[in-house]
Amino acid sequence: MLSGKKILLGITGGISAYKICELIRMYKRANADVKVVCTPNALKFVTKLTLQNLSKNEVSVDEFDVKNYNPEHISLADWADITVIAPVTANTISKIAFGICDNLLTSIVCAFKKPVILAPAMNCNMWENPIIRENLNKLHFTILEPESGYLACGYEGKGRLCSLEKIFEKTVELVNYKPLNGKKIVVTSGGTIEDIDPVRYISNYSSGKMGTALADCAKNLGADVILITACDVKKDYEVIQVKSALDMKSALDEKFNCADCIIMAAAVADYRVKNYSREKIKKTAEDEMTLHLVKNPDILSEICKKRNGAKLPLIVGFCAESQNLLENAKEKLLNKGCDYLIANDISRRDIGFASDYNEVTILDKNGGTVKLNRADKMTIAYKIFEAIYG
Ligand code: CTP
Repeated sequence: MLSGKKILLGITGGISAYKICELIRMYKRANADVKVVCTPNALKFVTKLTLQNLSKNEVSVDEFDVKNYNPEHISLADWADITVIAPVTANTISKIAFGICDNLLTSIVCAFKKPVILAPAMNCNMWENPIIRENLNKLHFTILEPESGYLACGYEGKGRLCSLEKIFEKTVELVNYKPLNGKKIVVTSGGTIEDIDPVRYISNYSSGKMGTALADCAKNLGADVILITACDVKKDYEVIQVKSALDMKSALDEKFNCADCIIMAAAVADYRVKNYSREKIKKTAEDEMTLHLVKNPDILSEICKKRNGAKLPLIVGFCAESQNLLENAKEKLLNKGCDYLIANDISRRDIGFASDYNEVTILDKNGGTVKLNRADKMTIAYKIFEAIYG
């Protein structure tokens, strides 16, 4: 069930750490490769020797125990297909929620972009503490809630580590979750660049982060991904670097027929200069100068027309609005003819352009709307795929 899968198993300092020895055996029996990372306190409950013998791998604890040239928190984060932390204490939950990287395990989670499972275990009063609940709610991970019963501290209540079978089954489910397997997803991103002369251009503030998150997410969900972007990015999937709106249109035209889904997250310039100057434009004695602009093709509208009523490719547009978000978005969805439109409020500074966070409303062509609350762009990307491929 887990053949060839790489599991990073985090253990923190709670009494149920002793149970995790059995979880390692379950993973190993299912043919997973398991690497254990302990917080220093975890080793007060279980020994490195036991974990090493069971996992057949070295157990890592200290971030600064340098074994090779690569920083260990990054190499381990890159190595694993999934991170499972069991038990996770109130302390580690809170550190992760605030991005504190004061040990190897919390540093790995901070750099980790694939699925994470947290299985908390603690005293029932700690579990009910509103601060812990709030910190847990900040995390967009899979949380396997503790069970009720007799606790090692002598209390009866909710706080026991959930069953190892539950952790094992969730690991199998998430690590094999590839709902976009076999689908070709084309994503556009970034702000197009329209040259004026060899040294000047017209562009916009789009960072390309939402498009990159969508492409990364599609890849994680098993899709074959092509990212057509005006940004400088290197990925382990096909990236086509473009500059202007016209470049983006021709790259997209070329990929149109093979795509199952096209997501237009790019901020395409509506206009380009009419006469590009091959030489640098010199300053004149006049106080004003006029640049003549011509309209760029509306790529989204054109690919929707090109589809000519066919169901595929599925076409998703974005819309950036600074006022009347929903009314403008509904009108755009209708006028452009796409299946979904993701509406972005660019008047807010805490989301959207250049931010790592977003808050969007997904509108579909049948009139449905789904509001996604503020979250990091990767989480928003997962929820967008969940909404369109349900
Ligand atoms: N878009 C496009 N080609 C253009 C302009 C926009 O394909 N020339 C796409 C964008 O990639 C996005 C959607 O259309 O998916 C909406 O972009 P937006 O800038 O919100 O809307 P515009 O159509 O440009 O309208 P306006 O700027 O007037 O709001």
